[in-house]
Amino acid sequence: MNCIVTGSSGRLGRAVIELLHAEGMPCTGIDLTPSEHTDIEADIRDAEAIQSLLNDADAVIHTAALHGYHVDRNYPEAEFVRTNVLGTAYLLNAARAHGIRRFVYTSSTSVYGEAMSQPDRAVWVDEDLTPQPRDIYDATKLAAEQLCRLYFDPGSLQTCVLRVSRFMDEPLNDIANYRLYRGLDERDGARAHLLAIRHEHERFEIYNISNRSPFSRNQLAELKTGPAGLVKSLFSGIEDSYSRLDWQLPESIDRVYAIDKAERLLGYDPVHNFTAYVEQQLQQLNS
Ligand SMILES: NC(=O)c1ccc[n+]([C@@H]2O[C@H](COP(=O)([O-])OP(=O)(O)OC[C@H]3O[C@@H](n4cnc5c(N)ncnc54)[C@H](O)[C@@H]3O)[C@@H](O)[C@H]2O)c1
Repeated sequence: MNCIVTGSSGRLGRAVIELLHAEGMPCTGIDLTPSEHTDIEADIRDAEAIQSLLNDADAVIHTAALHGYHVDRNYPEAEFVRTNVLGTAYLLNAARAHGIRRFVYTSSTSVYGEAMSQPDRAVWVDEDLTPQPRDIYDATKLAAEQLCRLYFDPGSLQTCVLRVSRFMDEPLNDIANYRLYRGLDERDGARAHLLAIRHEHERFEIYNISNRSPFSRNQLAELKTGPAGLVKSLFSGIEDSYSRLDWQLPESIDRVYAIDKAERLLGYDPVHNFTAYVEQQLQQLNS
């Protein structure tokens, strides 16, 4: 299977390319920005270029996007529409024209937006929660998801959407805390994309892709008001580990990303979860 990966110079795209190489799967990375993971510098806003680039492909993994951080940098709203919506439409069009069988779109848990806010309890975020976009990034990611839905055809072009959670470069303590409820290691994210292009999709589906949270639905009120006791009871020795790392446990947790659907239907099985991350940081401290 020859797989086109858009956004191959980006954080997730690089991880996808590395995984496909490790699996011996032929792939072509395309991105605006050159890098060792990118084979062709191309712009997904260029419909003609995209038509010719998808000529020999069997599958597309579409990670390229203008990001949440571009909102903070005041990128024009029209640029979000051109990249995230039109760019996706051009890729879908080309995929259909060339008889490509699989198209995996990288969306974001950010599309749930306002729906992830409750005053007295954390929100259980599964795929049944109705998205309430907060900004142009969320709105354009959601619009692109809808395009994927429109193009789905079980006999020809099987599209699916992965709503991935947060994998940013940020303070290590934040990364660790997020792995409890809303974080992702991009290597697990890449594995989810591989599972999705190999899967036989009978229907259009959307999946949350995040690390595995240790929490359950009956703990939502406690998570919001004071999760530290719960975390200590679930992970013995965590207080000591956090104190050695000079970290703080979260004071409040506002949401939990549920990945049950991806586990059940795709066989998603993230390995870089909370405990693994804390262990890794402790090892680095000792080395
Ligand atoms: N990083 C996160 O925390 C996070 C969270 C949720 C969802 N996502 C989604 O995951 C995907 C990848 O995120 P990332 O953090 O790896 O992003 P990134 O910014 O590191 O990479 C995105 C890549 O897309 C490329 N790109 C942008 N516009 C392009 C265009 N017009 N043509 C070709 N390439 C273009 C960029 O050059 C960049 O290399 C995005 O779709 C993003 O919305 C990311």
